[in-house]
Amino acid sequence: MANNVVLLGAQWGDEGKGKIVDLLTEKADAVARFQGGHNAGHTLVIDGQKTVLHLIPSGAMREGVECLIGNGVVVNVEQLLKEIDNLKSMNIDIESRLMLSMACPIILPHHIALDVAREKAKGKKAIGTTGRGIGPCYEDKVARRGLRIGDLVNAKLFAEKLREVMDYHNHSLVQYFKQQAVDYQETLDSIMPLVERVVPMVGDVSEKLYSLRQQSKSVMFEGAQGMLLDIDHGTYPYVTSSNTVAAAAAIGTGIGPLELDYVLGIVKAYTTRVGSGPFPTELFDEVGQWLGEKGHEFGATTGRPRRCGWLDMVALKRTRQVCGLSALCVTKLDVMDGLETVKICTSYEYKGNSIGLPPYGADALEQCVPVYETMSGWNEKTEGIRDYTSLPVNAKKYLDRISELSDLPIDIVSTGAERDDTIVCKHPFQEQ
Ligand code: IMP
Repeated sequence: MANNVVLLGAQWGDEGKGKIVDLLTEKADAVARFQGGHNAGHTLVIDGQKTVLHLIPSGAMREGVECLIGNGVVVNVEQLLKEIDNLKSMNIDIESRLMLSMACPIILPHHIALDVAREKAKGKKAIGTTGRGIGPCYEDKVARRGLRIGDLVNAKLFAEKLREVMDYHNHSLVQYFKQQAVDYQETLDSIMPLVERVVPMVGDVSEKLYSLRQQSKSVMFEGAQGMLLDIDHGTYPYVTSSNTVAAAAAIGTGIGPLELDYVLGIVKAYTTRVGSGPFPTELFDEVGQWLGEKGHEFGATTGRPRRCGWLDMVALKRTRQVCGLSALCVTKLDVMDGLETVKICTSYEYKGNSIGLPPYGADALEQCVPVYETMSGWNEKTEGIRDYTSLPVNAKKYLDRISELSDLPIDIVSTGAERDDTIVCKHPFQEQ
């Protein structure tokens, strides 16, 4: 049995992590977010009711589960309070069990303005960001000029630091991007009234996790986006601005890496990507369109249609290696019901050679041609199946092949959006 479980997206995000976090935290004491911000959109469907969380950990729906937002998460304070209030309207009290690290960088209006201005200036080469200010906020953090949640407690100092950083960014907004400056006073006036509500939630997440470990409590570390969007190991520059790999769970919360016991990679039964960037197995035919429609493949944050394609085991191999995956969870298997044949990409052709690992960088990946293995599909419905033995023979064969090619066990299979439409072969928080 594991105490500290990392759950992350093994592809380009949108693998259905929210549902699995929500399901597994039934047996957890706490859930912690460690990177990203409200660019994430984690959809939960419980008894037919849909909730989308962007910043609040997906364990929020479980009464009594402590929710932690680690230092690796960039926080838009307004968005945070909006989500808290939305949960409150559903009779879910989160404020009393939410801890926010004082080291979280704050997303401010000029970050959003810069994000949008940069994308516009890039034209055809735009990354296709979510426009939430994520990249510029992380830039400020690394440049050591960012404002952090802990700065909110000293209003005078906060105002001074804000003026300095805004002067700096407004210069490039106006002079370089030819956009309007963001108003300093308006920014200050919009954030200061929120401070009173935020401060009681601020705490030392690292210390909290240490003490939970001392008490042998179980913690779920909830990744956002996916490993292929990692700033270092993803399809750079078409990536997000944080590390999405398993190790980020340690850095983004302040827990030692050896304290992480188990890493679950969430992989969709096919592949999707939202935004620009290379995607070797992308489908431009009616099958791609069919997967998109049947799988409701629209971004939970931006509503943008997701690009769809076959499962890519080459890309997954990189995730397995970089993240040290313990097991896989395959989601959205039901979306593939009814396909006559299904394909799995097992290698790439690159510059006349066959390769089994994706090259680093977008330019090289653009040149890779996928090589497929074709398998028979299944006509029977898998939607809602909750035990492995009831799956159609060909669906089982498909899963077996994924397990074989990845050399990983498949611990969980998701067969629908509802919390309970899941086959749990092995629960990470439970003795088997
Ligand atoms: P950013 O994170 O808003 O800077 O966007 C950078 C890239 O990551 C874009 O291609 C986005 O579409 C993608 N991205 C960011 N968040 C998510 C997510 O939660 N799911 C899928 N893609 C995402």
